[in-house]
Amino acid sequence: MNAAEKPLPASIRPIRAADLEEFRACLDRVARERVHIAFTAAPKVQQAQFFLGNMLKRALPFVVAECPIDGIVGWCDIYVETEDELRPGYSHVGRLGMGLDVKFRGLGLGSAMLRVALDLARSTRIERVELQVYASNEPAIALYRKFGFETEGVRRRARKLDGRYDDVVMMARLRPPQQD
Ligand SMILES: CC(C)(COP(=O)(O)OP(=O)(O)OC[C@H]1O[C@@H](n2cnc3c(N)ncnc32)[C@H](O)[C@@H]1OP(=O)(O)O)[C@@H](O)C(=O)NCCC(=O)NCCS
Repeated sequence: MNAAEKPLPASIRPIRAADLEEFRACLDRVARERVHIAFTAAPKVQQAQFFLGNMLKRALPFVVAECPIDGIVGWCDIYVETEDELRPGYSHVGRLGMGLDVKFRGLGLGSAMLRVALDLARSTRIERVELQVYASNEPAIALYRKFGFETEGVRRRARKLDGRYDDVVMMARLRPPQQD
């Protein structure tokens, strides 16, 4: 039985306001690994609350993976910048972020969260989903490719952390034309 056939160890559902603390704690655990995401700790409670409130108010795609024992063990969100009247023209662009606790990786949850988040995006104005991923993050790049994201460019040695450089790969997925 491969990962795709096994039952998932967590269920995927839209985030709720009451999930703030558990979501933030999960983000903090992934951030403190100092490897896969740009954060090295979760933002302050107020900032996380503002972000979550804004996502909920605007009905932007935001799902979590919830395990019966460990609670929230992963998230996937697609954020859209608030329309800026001085720089209009970007409200069809979403920026994807996601992560899972280490022991829940490689089990199909990332695929499941991304599938649901992209499905939710279909009922929004989002046409282009973009993201940045470290070149060293092979599992994440493989996941994004599987879902049709394409590499648009590479920012070489864009991060220097703990004495290590990493390239940042810019990827994007345009809404398939049949969905327009
Ligand atoms: C990236 C991440 C979200 C992927 O989620 P996941 O649940 O581990 O991925 P899945 O089990 O759904 O696997 C998806 C695909 O990724 C690839 N993949 C998974 N684990 C892999 C590994 N260890 N090495 C190489 N490719 C791997 C496979 O192509 C797989 O597809 P397949 O099973 O159909 O072959 C997860 O590993 C994670 O949270 N990593 C740390 C945080 C992070 O990197 N966030 C993204 C920042 S841009």
